[in-house]
Amino acid sequence: MDVQYICSNCGKVQPVTTHAPKCNCDGLWKLQFAPPAFDLQLVDQNQWNIFRYRAFMPLADDTWKSVTMGEGLTPIINFDEDLMLKMDYFMPTLSFKDRGAAVLAAHMGAIGVKSVVQDSSGNAGNSVAAYCGRIGMACDIFVPEGTSPGKIDMIRAHGAEVHIIPGSRDHCADVCRAEVTKPGRYYANHVYNPFFYEGTKTYIYEIYEQLGRIPQHIFVPLGNGTLFLGVILGLEHLLTSGAIKAMPKIIAIQSAHCAPFAAAKEKGLHEPAQVEIKPTLAEGIAIGKPMRGAEILEKIYQYDIDIVEIPEEMILPARAALAKKGIYCEHTTSGNYAAYLKYCQLHGKTPDSLVTMCGAGLKSDH
Ligand SMILES: Cc1ncc(COP(=O)(O)O)c(C=O)c1O
Ligand SMILES: [Zn+2]
Repeated sequence: MDVQYICSNCGKVQPVTTHAPKCNCDGLWKLQFAPPAFDLQLVDQNQWNIFRYRAFMPLADDTWKSVTMGEGLTPIINFDEDLMLKMDYFMPTLSFKDRGAAVLAAHMGAIGVKSVVQDSSGNAGNSVAAYCGRIGMACDIFVPEGTSPGKIDMIRAHGAEVHIIPGSRDHCADVCRAEVTKPGRYYANHVYNPFFYEGTKTYIYEIYEQLGRIPQHIFVPLGNGTLFLGVILGLEHLLTSGAIKAMPKIIAIQSAHCAPFAAAKEKGLHEPAQVEIKPTLAEGIAIGKPMRGAEILEKIYQYDIDIVEIPEEMILPARAALAKKGIYCEHTTSGNYAAYLKYCQLHGKTPDSLVTMCGAGLKSDH
């Protein structure tokens, strides 16, 4: 299998067996990998997890067999006549991040990683800790002070060591990245590591397999873009394989209190705009300086992707409305539904829409 990293800044290539988190020039790695054309015949019907799509993943060996915890294959339900919900919090650690963490763990096992570090205030840290526990890898998770005790307990329960760092989320990432430079540590980060996106792209494969088609409107949250970029990867693959004839309308969701992509698009910028950030209940997408910002904006322009901002005051009513119908999701995720409602206010009835329910409710009850 011909798989390499290529630096998104200087174009240098590197084998994926490298333990370096990024290029010497500071550029993030992108994956150079052309999977075979998407074909349902290549989907392993005996695997009830995301590795049923492994024919389209750059995996070097069978480590995935000891990694999988049945992640993925989340149901799609009809919420009303226009809206489908993909229940992506039906996952081992209750969020979509398990898609990415499972593939990343399989890769890390294959290249002999023994000890990982990761910084996260939420679902990604939970997920990486769980999968490291699953395959017996030492794991240190750095969280900013103020992280909810429930999440810290969960990370510790998986056997990871938790480091609570005073100060901001950005400072916490800096402390963690200093740790990565020590010999023997691997940065299992959801934004840096391209293998994470090889997992999140299965979100699209599943939709295609479950519905036999891709809905007209795909709503996807956009903070650092781990699901967003996975959605693009998956759709581009279906398109080049001839499984779909055109890209659907993609609608990216930002918080009105933290919308660097919306501001950039309005001004035609090719880097995320510097924006004033206000506190938001949609903490999972409150990312002021997304690391893969230029890459994401390129896709936004290429596919004429709309961006809708969640009005803060719509988050709690949206969460209550979902809960009344039996769906108890986290605040960031009820923001996805609020964004759909806002989009309908702006553009009218939007049939054949699919929104992800990607984080479980108990996670944000603090
Ligand atoms: C529930 C939930 N939704 C959306 C997101 C946004 O993902 P990303 O920052 O990769 O765009 C996250 C990220 O942590 C999340 O936990
Ligand atoms: Zn470089």
